Amino acid sequence: MLSAWQHWVMADVRDAQPDANEEYDPFTAFDEAAGVGQVRDPYAVFHEMRSECPVHAGSQAHRFRDLGEDNMEAALIGDRTPYALMTFSGVQQALKDGETFSSSGYAESIGMLMGHSILEMDEPEHHRYRSLIQQAFTRKAMERWEADIVRPIVHANIDKFAERGHADLVRELFFPFPVQVIAEMLGLPRDGLREFHAKAVELITIMTDIERGLIASQWLYDYFTKIIAERRIEPKTDVISVLTQAELDGQRLTDDEIIAFLRLLLPAGAETTYRSSSNLMFGLLSNPEQLEALRNDRDLMPQAIEEGLRWEAPLTSIGRTAMREVEVDGVTIPAGSPVQVCMGAANRDPGRWENPDQFDLFRDPQQHMAFAFGPHMCLGIHLARMETTVVVNAVLDRLPNVRLDANAEDVHISGLAFRAPNHLPVLFGTH
Ligand code: HEM
Repeated sequence: MLSAWQHWVMADVRDAQPDANEEYDPFTAFDEAAGVGQVRDPYAVFHEMRSECPVHAGSQAHRFRDLGEDNMEAALIGDRTPYALMTFSGVQQALKDGETFSSSGYAESIGMLMGHSILEMDEPEHHRYRSLIQQAFTRKAMERWEADIVRPIVHANIDKFAERGHADLVRELFFPFPVQVIAEMLGLPRDGLREFHAKAVELITIMTDIERGLIASQWLYDYFTKIIAERRIEPKTDVISVLTQAELDGQRLTDDEIIAFLRLLLPAGAETTYRSSSNLMFGLLSNPEQLEALRNDRDLMPQAIEEGLRWEAPLTSIGRTAMREVEVDGVTIPAGSPVQVCMGAANRDPGRWENPDQFDLFRDPQQHMAFAFGPHMCLGIHLARMETTVVVNAVLDRLPNVRLDANAEDVHISGLAFRAPNHLPVLFGTH
C-alpha cells in the first residue's frame, strides 16, 4: 500500500526518528511517516496538477512545499519515472484494468513484511484467493458482527466518557474501536491487544524503520502460527477458524497464506476505518446544519458516509505498475512504469463534482474511488460502512448537542498518503 508519495513523506521524516533513549511510539512514528501534521491541504496541489495535465511524469514532491525539496530523489523508483493519474476517468481506467495496471509492485515494498497477500496478486491467482477469503465475510457474519461485536465495543468506549460532557473523539473512540473489532472478529486473546496493535502499526512503518518492521513481521508470524494451530484442532466461529476451513475446488489455504492475509487485515481494516470515521465526523461537526439534518433523519446516513469518503479519502493514493505501453487521458505511459493512482484527486475532480472541495451530504450520490475499484476494490467495504453507521449513530444518540470545542486550537485534517484529524475535541450535553 506504499505509494511514491508515502516514500517522499517517509524520506522526509527519516532523520526525525525518536532518540534511542526515548520510548518509541509506533503510532506517532506512523503518523509522522504518513505526513500527518506536515501536509495540511494536498488538494490545492492536486487541482493545480490536474489543470496542468491529467497525468504527470516524474517526481512531484517539490509541489508539496511542506515536505521540502530533498525528497525528489526518493520518489524515483530505481531509474524508472513514476506517472501520477489525477482525474476520475484516469484513476477508474487504471483500477478497472488489473491486467495492464498490475498490483505486483507491492511485493517489493509492503509485501516484504506482510508476505504474499491478495494485495499484490494479479489475476487469475488473485480471484482464487479472494474467493477463499471472502468465505469469512458473508452477510450473515456481518449481521452477527454488528450485534455481537461492533455495537458492544462502540458503546463500551463511549461509556467511558458519556457522563463527562467533553471528549477527544479521535483518541477515545475512533482510533481504538476498529482494532478492537478486528481482534474480536479474529478471536484474539484480549490481553496483549495493545502489543498486537503496536506490532501491526510497526509492520507498515516500513520506510522509516525496516528493521523494526521485520521484527514486527516475525512477531506476528509466531503469534498467528500458534493461534492457527489451535483453530485447526478446535475450530470456533471466528475469522481465523473460517479461513482454516475455507475450501475452493478442493484447495485450502496454507498457514503462510492465512498469515499474509491476517498481516494485511489490520492496516487495511483498522487504519482506514479510524480515519474515515474521524474525517466524516469532522465534516459533520464543521457543518452543524448537516449534522442536525442527519441527527433528525438517519436515512441520510449512507449518503453522509459516502460523501465523507469522497471528500476526505483516508488513503489518497495507491500504486500500480504498467505492464505494457498504455494511454491514459491522452498521455502515453511506457511499459514498466510505476503508476500512482491518486484517488484523492479523482474524488475531487471538478469535471465530475460541483464544488468538489465542499463537504455536502445532500449532493447526488455518485461512485467515488476511496475504496478503489475493479478487482482489488476493498474487501472490507460492507464492514467499513456498517462500522461507520454504528459509531456515528451512537455519537448522535448518546452525545446530545455534540459540537466542536470552540476553545480547542485549530482542529483540522492533515496528511498526504493517509489523512485524518489528530484530535477531535468535542463538548456535549449542557457543558
Ligand atoms: C473506510 C474504510 C476503508 C477504506 C477507505 C479502504 C480502502 C481500500 C482500498 C483503496 C483498497 C485497494 C488497495 C489496492 O488495491 O492497492 C482496499 C483493499 C482492501 N481492503 Fe479496504 N478499506 C477500508 C476498510 C477495510 C476494512 C474494514 C477491511 C477489513 C476487512 C478492509 C480490507 C481490505 C482488504 C483485505 C483489501 C485487499 C483487497 C484485494 O487486494 O483484493 N478494508 N481497501
